[in-house]
Amino acid sequence: MTEILKVTGLSKVYSGKVTTRALTDIQLTIHKGEFVGVMGPSGSGKTTLLNMVSTIDTPSSGDVLINGHNPHLLKKKDLAAFRRRELGFVFQDFNLLDTLTVAENIVLPLTLDRQKLSDIEQKLAQVAERLGITDILNKRTYEISGGQRQRAAIARAIIPGPSLLLADEPTGALIRILHASLWKP
Ligand SMILES: Nc1ncnc2c1ncn2[C@@H]1O[C@H](COP(=O)(O)OP(=O)(O)OP(=O)(O)O)[C@@H](O)[C@H]1O
Ligand SMILES: [Mg+2]
Repeated sequence: MTEILKVTGLSKVYSGKVTTRALTDIQLTIHKGEFVGVMGPSGSGKTTLLNMVSTIDTPSSGDVLINGHNPHLLKKKDLAAFRRRELGFVFQDFNLLDTLTVAENIVLPLTLDRQKLSDIEQKLAQVAERLGITDILNKRTYEISGGQRQRAAIARAIIPGPSLLLADEPTGALIRILHASLWKP
């Protein structure tokens, strides 16, 4: 089975006034199609691990491979493109922009990637249909329900076709939508 994520010997030490060893020698492999939850008490390093995988922060040692590529070795410009194309994030507060419509929020990663308008419209129609939000695409994000906001955030995360979808502290409702809309048996 294809290895989408391979983390080997990953450690993270935050140095500052107080030195914190947040992760020590973590190994983690996730295959294509797997749905994996990381559990642990507060302060055990879950967000730190996510930040290393999503390249928001850099490991102290060890490797992160996404689809066989180590994003931490990329130059800044290439890294931005890699993140847009290969990684999807669903943020805890959804991070939708309230000056934009639902549709404009969803297509943002494609707009930033300068994709063709006809491609953007086709992908938007597909992803909206899949998540059942076709009817609210022209609304602003403050005019829709909480569940619709979750769906819009998921739509924005999956529209580029990322290899890996990441969520920090997903709620039960979010997990159910992800399961129902993405992991069709
Ligand atoms: N930027 C930082 N600088 C210094 N220490 C940090 C930083 N971020 C996290 N830590 C420390 O690293 C450890 C792991 O934190 P992390 O946020 O990864 O935990 P968590 O498992 O996500 O916890 P929670 O369930 O509360 O979200 C903690 O001891 C925390 O205080
Ligand atoms: Mg956390």
